[in-house]
Amino acid sequence: MLGPALLAASRTPRIRDFVTTSRVSRGLVGRFVAGNEQDDAVTAVHGLVARGMSVTIDHLGEDTTERAQAVATREAYRALLTRLGDEGLAAHAEVSLKLSALGQALPEGGAAFALDNARVICRAAGQVGTTVTLDMEDHTTVDSTLSILGELRADFPWVGAVLQSGLFRTEADVRDLAHPGSRVRLVKGAYAEPRAVAHARKADVDAAYRRCLAVLFAEGAYPMVASHDQSMVDEANRLAAQHDREPADYELQMLYGIRTSEQERQVAEGRQMRVYLPYGQDWYGYFMRRLAERPANVAFFLRSLVSN
Ligand code: FDA
Repeated sequence: MLGPALLAASRTPRIRDFVTTSRVSRGLVGRFVAGNEQDDAVTAVHGLVARGMSVTIDHLGEDTTERAQAVATREAYRALLTRLGDEGLAAHAEVSLKLSALGQALPEGGAAFALDNARVICRAAGQVGTTVTLDMEDHTTVDSTLSILGELRADFPWVGAVLQSGLFRTEADVRDLAHPGSRVRLVKGAYAEPRAVAHARKADVDAAYRRCLAVLFAEGAYPMVASHDQSMVDEANRLAAQHDREPADYELQMLYGIRTSEQERQVAEGRQMRVYLPYGQDWYGYFMRRLAERPANVAFFLRSLVSN
């Protein structure tokens, strides 16, 4: 229950001001975020690739309220992709996009504007030989995001989708997207969602995750199994064996800074592990979702506040 309450509180300006200006958060943010600048991200990518991982990079930002801000995000991605190409990293590093950072929620044509921006980024990714995955935000954005995905896939069939097992609708969305060649990142879902649209019990979210995984593996999609939950990781590896999938036919994925020894163990056992690596100054929303996922993270943050 702490998670949803924390996510709700995180939207109040007082909490936002407090967390973003606190010296304690700066220290803890560094556990989950590579740094503020492109250089920080590229340095972290080199380190992860040297340890056998692949990477998906998120230029932090969401809920953009101005067109200029969305254009700046698009250009940051373009510059990053050029750099990945120049440094020989494009075979190992792709990018993840939040459409709300590209203007999806702007009034009057926001979705079309976000699509245009995403198209520019996809073109840049294609030029250097890597891919793009569209993050999924709260349930109100799913229809728009899947429609933009469809438009992008007409030109760039390798664009990946994210689906959240926490939402009731997702099992149907998984069936729609589970065709050969379709890159689908399955997550549990990080947003506080109303009971009308989402499972309230963790056991139900987990059971739905397993059912979705089974469909992705059975129908020939390219599953991107994004979870730190050992039972989901084990289930994915079991399904891969059952369906004669080679290690190259699916990916395990985890967030930067979470269960790093398990990330390394999976690589040592010959599996693909892709690390989701965020960077940039707009870390607040991402950071609060990481705190909310785990009471121990909140406790650590509060203890640090008291002891500083
Ligand atoms: P679960 O929450 O059950 O955690 C299992 C175990 O993992 C915990 O017991 C703990 O050991 C560890 N763990 C999990 N979270 C932790 C944390 N924050 N700190 C420390 N340990 C932690 N969500 C979304 O809504 N839209 C999206 O686009 C994405 N994208 C995305 C990409 C990738 C690559 C990953 C791995 C995750 C996402 N997510 C996401 C987040 C996802 O929805 C979910 O909130 C988290 O992955 C936590 O759920 P788990 O599946 O890890 O299981």
